[in-house]
Amino acid sequence: MKYKNFITIEGIDGSGKSTYVPVLKQMFEDLGYNVIITREPGGTPYAEELRKRILNEKMPLSQEVELAFLARKDHLEKLIKPALEDEKTIVISDRYTDSTYAYQGVASGYPSEKIDEFVISHQNDIWPALTLIFSVPVEVSQQRLNKTGKIPDKFESKDPEFFLKCIDGYNEQIKKDPERCKFVDSSKTSEQTTEQVKELLKDFVEQNLLVRKKTRQP
Ligand code: TMP
Repeated sequence: MKYKNFITIEGIDGSGKSTYVPVLKQMFEDLGYNVIITREPGGTPYAEELRKRILNEKMPLSQEVELAFLARKDHLEKLIKPALEDEKTIVISDRYTDSTYAYQGVASGYPSEKIDEFVISHQNDIWPALTLIFSVPVEVSQQRLNKTGKIPDKFESKDPEFFLKCIDGYNEQIKKDPERCKFVDSSKTSEQTTEQVKELLKDFVEQNLLVRKKTRQP
């Protein structure tokens, strides 16, 4: 089931996706919505604990998938689902299940049918109505990651081939559900990328949401 007030953003490490969270937040606030920003893995104390393990510990792939879905289940139960009950609230999550299909599925080789099973058992088949997938060539994402000067985590240290496969994984998600998954070319300047995000959101709002414009005082 897709929720119209649930939006996710996706992309490989270094795609620049998180830079556009304030743009999304502002657009929905201007339309009169309350906006909750969250992330995966994470979003609740338990899921943030699991995040540390997923991003830093070496573990079998099956365990990585299981921990990602345990974190997701907690995030859904404690934060996302209660927030979605209020139709004046928009939940924006920086990553969700498309990351699992891209990183653990296509890039690491975990069977997608098994991920499908977790989607039913741990995620209750809950999906956002809109997912923006930020895409850049791997060389650009690697340059951006190098510039941060931060010590790379387990995923950020993967080689370029891994990220090429992640991009394939995201493209598969776009093919599977083109109505939900929208491609954003984030190799452009930040102004051009912001324009694309605004256009996609404008279309989404027109087709899906009520405009809750606050009435101005005379
Ligand atoms: P980020 O919060 O900095 O975008 O990074 C989170 C990392 O976790 C990123 O490298 C992708 C990875 N990840 C997975 O491998 N599987 C998942 O299901 C999720 C949500 C994230």
